[in-house]
Amino acid sequence: MSFASSVRHFQTLVISFHSIIAIETVEEERVETLIHTACKDLQMMVFEWSVAQGLMRSPGSPGNRWRNGSDGQRPTPIGKTTDPLDMLRHLDGITYRAIYWLKDFGRHLKDPVVARQFREVAHQFSFNRSTLVITEDSMRLPSPLHQEAVYFDLKLPSPDELYQTISQVMRNLGSRAKVDLSPEDIHALVQAMRGMTLKQARQVIAYAALADGKLIATDVERVVQRKAQVIHEGGLLDYLPAAANMAQLGGFQGLKAWLQRAWVGFSPEAHRYNLPAPKGILIVGVQGCGKSLAAKTVARQWKLPLLKLDAGRLYDKYIGESEKNFHRAVTMAETMAPVVLWIDEIEKSMGQTSGEGDGGLSRRLFGSFLTWLQEKSQDIFVVATANDLSQLPPELLRKGRFDEIFFVDLPDAAERQAILEIHLQRRNQAISTFHLDTLVQATEGFSGAEIEHVINAALYRALYEQRQLDTALLLHEITSTVPLSIARREDMQRLRALAQERFVTVR
Ligand SMILES: Nc1ncnc2c1ncn2[C@@H]1O[C@H](COP(=O)(O)OP(=O)(O)O)[C@@H](O)[C@H]1O
Ligand SMILES: [Mg+2]
Repeated sequence: MSFASSVRHFQTLVISFHSIIAIETVEEERVETLIHTACKDLQMMVFEWSVAQGLMRSPGSPGNRWRNGSDGQRPTPIGKTTDPLDMLRHLDGITYRAIYWLKDFGRHLKDPVVARQFREVAHQFSFNRSTLVITEDSMRLPSPLHQEAVYFDLKLPSPDELYQTISQVMRNLGSRAKVDLSPEDIHALVQAMRGMTLKQARQVIAYAALADGKLIATDVERVVQRKAQVIHEGGLLDYLPAAANMAQLGGFQGLKAWLQRAWVGFSPEAHRYNLPAPKGILIVGVQGCGKSLAAKTVARQWKLPLLKLDAGRLYDKYIGESEKNFHRAVTMAETMAPVVLWIDEIEKSMGQTSGEGDGGLSRRLFGSFLTWLQEKSQDIFVVATANDLSQLPPELLRKGRFDEIFFVDLPDAAERQAILEIHLQRRNQAISTFHLDTLVQATEGFSGAEIEHVINAALYRALYEQRQLDTALLLHEITSTVPLSIARREDMQRLRALAQERFVTVR
């Protein structure tokens, strides 16, 4: 949603008698711009309140208060209104139409007296069409207020806001940094900043410029790195930029071919024919056989960034918070589209029994996920992975949820060879010095992870004994390993029987 449409939405709420608007955000400067832009058209006055400053009339135009200091006048607070209750009592008698922006106010509403007074003011405002706007980074309103308030979803900054931010920073830098950016570079910078708040975007650009006195094309990389950090700190997602994705997956020819075919779904031609873009895939199968690696490969093959959702971290002990977290995560993904959204081991967070004793939370979360999957319109490709089929809610496996469900079995001979080669090469070993056929045969029943483990263990031994890694050392490790396919033969056979008849194999 563009900022202009946010403003229109906000105005409509105000004129349609919504006397409490709650905005969960850390971006107060954008709230300020939103309110001021909206009020200019509506010709309404704006007041703001904080516990530190009390209630005061907001200066008419946003942006001239502290920044250029041209008028230099700080507005004066209205006497004795720093206390929330005093302020609300003051509002109680006011009859003219205005917007009252109360900063960090959610926490004060935990006090029953404040909450009561707040409701009375809101009730009165619903007749004269004044509005209370409350903001806080994270808000949990007590029950009656929760129903009476309307939650306004202030999306992350849109490309045009980010573009304006870059221009503003460049202007402010003046002679302190030399700017050498083509229109394409600026476009790339804006793309890289998507998913950041305005403040973060401004900081990262200013830092990039001032660190070496210039702002140039290669600074995009710095922005991308900073974004990865910002997203990680957000706590729900991890970000792997396309350029940093080095996933190397042996085998999986079927999946790779499917990805190649599906890619046309994102093309302009597909849009022209109104073809829906690919939605996502589910990869189920044996542990250690490359499902997680395959998820990274999807992003790599399509040269898209990867967002990994840590579904376990969505959980919050407060009712409604987990769904909110989910919403927050997918909003981030939507802001960054086109992107691959990877949900690893989905059965652990949204599975059938993971929800026992949590009051149906995982069911609700799963419900939110299904609805979102069905309705999402942006270019977000979901890759979900699962080890345990029996834990998955059957709805997830129904036709049409995912574009395809892939089953990953133990690697066959050709795949084991590819996996051996990938991992030997990665450890700087010359493939030609090994009897690959022997190793391929000896590792029958091994998963990719087990093959990798064998190579690591043998290389350790080689280092310790100060000799070259060779086939004999590898064979020694192989024969002393009991693969899961033997240790847990029944489990695996059950999985295979269930999956093989229903899903496409990755080969
Ligand atoms: N097909 C494969 N090609 C290359 N490496 C593999 C393959 N399968 C497994 N591996 C190795 O095993 C590790 C574990 O695999 P992973 O993708 O985490 O398995 P899963 O998610 O299915 O449990 C990987 O990091 C990789 O090093
Ligand atoms: Mg995995």
